[in-house]
Amino acid sequence: MSYVLSLLFGYLLGSIPFGLLITRAAGLGDVRNIGSGNIGATNVLRTGNKGLAAATLLLDALKGTAAVLVAGHFAPELALVAGFGAFLGHLFPVWLGFKGGKGVATYLGVLLGLAWLGMLVFAVVWLAMAFLFRYSSLAALTAAVVVPIALYFVSTPEIAGLFALMSLIVFIKHRANIQRLLAGTEGKIGAKE
Ligand code: G3P
Repeated sequence: MSYVLSLLFGYLLGSIPFGLLITRAAGLGDVRNIGSGNIGATNVLRTGNKGLAAATLLLDALKGTAAVLVAGHFAPELALVAGFGAFLGHLFPVWLGFKGGKGVATYLGVLLGLAWLGMLVFAVVWLAMAFLFRYSSLAALTAAVVVPIALYFVSTPEIAGLFALMSLIVFIKHRANIQRLLAGTEGKIGAKE
């Protein structure tokens, strides 16, 4: 498998919009019409269905893990490329006119595949921030700052660099959330809209 094939494979896997498919299949309509309009687990939770939100989180994460594991079977460096492809696929899915999610669950899944210790760091930071402040976006953004720094110590420079880039993209995709956080209008975890 080449770099281009790995990127494409990861992209196609990552571009499956599970949040959208799951909520539609459950008869809840288009999740993009509620809350933040995002297709991720946090917004699926705003439908009030915790099970569907958990399934979205799991599947959006596992598509990243799967991309890493399959490509990594061919060569270790291809795992990074496929993981990045999955992340990009979630953010810019061809099926939705390149308007996808914010990438947090897929970031987590790629992390599980490439550096599980980093995933633990992410989980601890996310849970602590979510417990303290109840904002999913703030928890994810804080974890996205801490993880690349932690990876610098517990992983390879390539993996730490990849996650620094992905964290930067996560921040860019959360522009509207950051504005709402600053304005005090961001929705709290689980609050229905
Ligand atoms: O994982 C996405 C989360 O950080 C923000 O989601 O729906 O509140 O924009 P949302």
